[in-house]
This record gives sequence, structure tokens and C-alpha cells, in this order.
Amino acid sequence: MGDDAGRLWWQEGVIYQIYPRSFADSNGDGVGDLRGITGRLDYLRDLGVDAIWLSPINPSPMFDFGYDVSDYLGIAPEFGTLDDFRVLLAEAHARGIRIVLDLVMNHSSHLHPWFVESSSSRTSDKRDWYIWHDGRNGGPPNNWQASFGGGAWEWDEASRQFYLHSFLREQPDLNWRNPRVKQAAEDIVAWWLDVGVDGFRLDVINWFLKDEQLRDNPTKLLGRRPYDRQKHVYDRNRPETVDLVRWLRATVDRWPERMLVGEVYNEPPGNPELSASYYADGAGLHLAFDFSLLFSGWSADDFGRAIDAWEDVLSPACWPTYTLGNHDQRRVLSRYASDANRAARGRVAAALVLTLRGTPFLYYGEEIGMLDVKVPRSRLQDPLGKSYWPLPVGRDPARTPMQWSAEANAGFSPAEPWLPVHPDFAEINVERAEADPASLLRWYRELIRLRRDEPVLRRGSYRRLPQGTGVLGYVREHEGERVAVLLNFESRPRPAVLPTGASWRVLAASARRPRDRVAGGTIEVEADGVLIAKAGAPQARTLGSEGRARSAVGR
Ligand code: GLC
Ligand code: CA
Repeated sequence: MGDDAGRLWWQEGVIYQIYPRSFADSNGDGVGDLRGITGRLDYLRDLGVDAIWLSPINPSPMFDFGYDVSDYLGIAPEFGTLDDFRVLLAEAHARGIRIVLDLVMNHSSHLHPWFVESSSSRTSDKRDWYIWHDGRNGGPPNNWQASFGGGAWEWDEASRQFYLHSFLREQPDLNWRNPRVKQAAEDIVAWWLDVGVDGFRLDVINWFLKDEQLRDNPTKLLGRRPYDRQKHVYDRNRPETVDLVRWLRATVDRWPERMLVGEVYNEPPGNPELSASYYADGAGLHLAFDFSLLFSGWSADDFGRAIDAWEDVLSPACWPTYTLGNHDQRRVLSRYASDANRAARGRVAAALVLTLRGTPFLYYGEEIGMLDVKVPRSRLQDPLGKSYWPLPVGRDPARTPMQWSAEANAGFSPAEPWLPVHPDFAEINVERAEADPASLLRWYRELIRLRRDEPVLRRGSYRRLPQGTGVLGYVREHEGERVAVLLNFESRPRPAVLPTGASWRVLAASARRPRDRVAGGTIEVEADGVLIAKAGAPQARTLGSEGRARSAVGR
């Protein structure tokens, strides 16, 4: 699926993240599963996405809901079987949709046979597959903290040493300096690529290597938790991780058109330089996340700064990614909008991620405007939410069942779902959104279709268009074609400027009665409004026309 510009699906396409427990339940046990996803592929095709990224589906004791894997080559029974997965893959490919798996290999589950063997004795054959160490002065080996709270070292009484866990104690960190661990990872990657998956999302790739000498992290003054009061220079972000990433890239490149996207996690405000380093100028990850956009305030200036910083640090060989939500963060419209402006801001947010230069990652439910759910204490699932309750740090609110219809449990499952459904589901659901021409879902579809129709939106360069307060403006340019995007982040109309010397044809606008054309110069963008226009092109385009040809994945 390459094209004349040599760009591939992961550059030109839109990627949709599914949290499998919460997408669709096919067998009525209250937990989403693979057959459920297969049953909803037509919905995803109609939305227009090119690929889906599945949060982990491997067997797991679910201490961190799949981010603690006990068998890298299997499928968790609650999600189905390997056959179910093969069917999902084939059905997705038949609709032109790729599948990206989550590869969680900074750590495994403590119940993975590797760790069971590793912890069995100091002389075990797999002892050095994990990071074991003697204590220091009667305490742990150094001052490292677990990102989920508490110290990062767990004492193992049986073998009388500490092991490292950057997250939960049920998630021991693998020792990536051990060539046998690398070999095992290569075998896992090769196995799934042979099954036919199209790529991997690498969980916390910037954690993989730790300082060899296990030096203490320097401390800093401010921060809520002990973890936040350290500079993470020795327990993560080691520069040599980039070599590891180069090696992974070379491995994956043995299969055509596969993709690696890495989660380079850094606390707010994000760290574009760090994320950029993982691209290794085109020899490392195909894509990396930087969450600066997600962590931005709702303002033209903040978003503009985040985008410009990301554009600045990426060399021409590197392709940006943009995302406003995932399974670890509050939902986009819960962060940014109120009852009064939600419908409009949902359109602005969609227009932002879908018209920037880079690969958009959408989070399931975002396209219908799903909101965070207030999960009562008795129904908390996320270990983070439980340990920090009543602080709102838990991630359950953004992981609740997809709202398909106004039926019981939002059409997600006939049974009580594992997490509560949002009480707004009779209003906010796919069925209703499909029937409403003014819905957010229709707007997402419209914009995704626009990306398909307009190569300039997929491939064009990005240039900021200076604007007055409240408005973010930029121009995308490709082979003589020019599209301007104006986004008003304020809840009052704002003046904005379109380049003069051209007549602009409106491609999409959030206004109730959009004009077909606007002249260059100063114009007004409505409150919380969007205007996307193309310079000087001839034929008019009808908004709202569905219907589009898609090609199957050819391999
Ligand atoms: C990543 C995942 C998160 C998980 C953590 C540990 O940040 O996105 O969900 O809990 O890694 O694997
Ligand atoms: Ca199920």
C-alpha cells in the first residue's frame, strides 16, 4: 500500500486504539473480547481508520490489565483463542485495516515462567533475565522508585536478593542487557510477524535499559510523590536504549511494511527531544509518541508551541505522531470541555489531530464524545486508582465500555460490564450518532474522508500561520496544493487571517451554514469553530457525501 510519494500506511493512515476489555463483548461475560472486535470491524471501516492498535491481548494475571504478560505467544482466554485472533486479522485485512499489537517487554508478569525460574534460586539459569541485586546498608540497592508508587526494589526472601520493578511489584523488569533476553524478544516479534500482524506498539520503550552501575537518581525539590521528586536519568531514558531500538528496527524490517511505534513516556509537559531521539534519524522507531499535545492546555498558544516544538526536533527522516487520548489519560473532552462547549470543542480537537502533519492516533470512543466515568470505589479495577484513592489518579474512568446503543449496558454486553458504563449512554452512543448528521462521529468520518481525498492533508508540509489571540492557524502544502486550517480555541468569535492572493474553497467547517468560498485576508471564525479551506482549486466538494472505495491489504 505504498504510493507515489513512497509513504506507507503508518504515515498516511489513521490509527485507532482499542482497549480490548471494553470494546465489545461477544459472549456475555461482561468483558470485551476478540470476536467482539471482529463483529465491529465494519464500524471501523466506515469510520475510515487504516489500522487498529490493540492494548495487550496476551495471557496475563491482569494485575495491570494485560500490561503484565505471562505468555508472549498466547491469547488471554477471556479475549479468545489464537484462532479468534487469526480471524480478526484476516477480517481486518480484508477491510484494509492493519493490526498493531502492544508489546510489553520492559517487564513481564511475576507469574511468567521466566520469572518463576529466575526467582527460584540465585544460580538459576534465568537469574540474569531480570535485574537482581544485593541490598545496600540493610536497604535496597539504590534510591529508585516505582512509577506506580513505593520503592522500585522488592525483597525476595527465598533467594535473599532484591529485584527491580519500575511499575508494580507484579511486573519485574527484564534485563535487556542480557543477549538471551534480546534473543527471546526477537523470537516473539518474529513469531507474531509471521502470524501476519502489521506492527507493534512498544510499551514504555524509554524504560528498557537502566544504568549498569545502578547509580542513585539525583533528586529534585518539587513533586507530589517521591517518584516525582527524582530526575529519572539512571532508571530510564538511558541514551544507549537507542541502540537497542536500532536493533529492533532491523529485526522488524526483515518483514515488509511493518511498523514500530514506541511509547516514550515522560511526565507533563512531555519531552519532544527525548521522543525524537528514538527515531534515530530514521534508523530507529518508525514512530514515537510524545505527549506534549495531550498535556497541553486548551489554548491556541499552548497547542501551537507543542506542535512547533515537535516539528522542530524531528529531522526530515522522522514522521510525527499526534494523539489526544489513550488508556492512561483522562478522556479528551473531560479534560478540555464543559457541558456548554463540548460539542464544539470535540470538533476542534478532531480537526487538530486529523489535519496536522503526522499520524493521528485516536482512542476508542473519542469519535462519539465519550467522557470519563466516575467509578465508585467499590468498582475500581486499576491498581493505580486503588492505591491512590481518593486522589483521581486511577485510569478506570477512561477505560469504560464502548457506548454502542441505548440498549442495556450501552449494547456493549448483555451482562454487567467489568467497569460501569457512563450514565450518558442513552444520549452518547454510536447508533444515535450515526443517525444524526450533525454528530461528532459524522464529523470524524468527514475529516478522515477528507484526508483520504486530499493528498496535501496526508503528505503536505506544515507551516504555522501567525494569528491573533485564540486562533491556531497553519498551512499544509504539497505539490502546489495548499490547505489552510483555522481553529478557534475560544468560546467567542475571533478574527483570523487567511493568506491573501488566493480564493479559498471551504473543505470543512464547523459553522452551521458554511460558505463555499472565502477570500484571503481577515475573516471571522465562530466561537469554538473550525475552518479548513483549500487555495484556488476549481470544483466544489459536497459535504456529507459518504461512500468511498477502499482497497484490501495486499500481501
Ligand atoms: C505504559 C502503559 C500503561 C502501563 C505501563 C506499565 O505506560 O501504557 O498502561 O500500566 O506502561 O506497563
Ligand atoms: Ca467476553
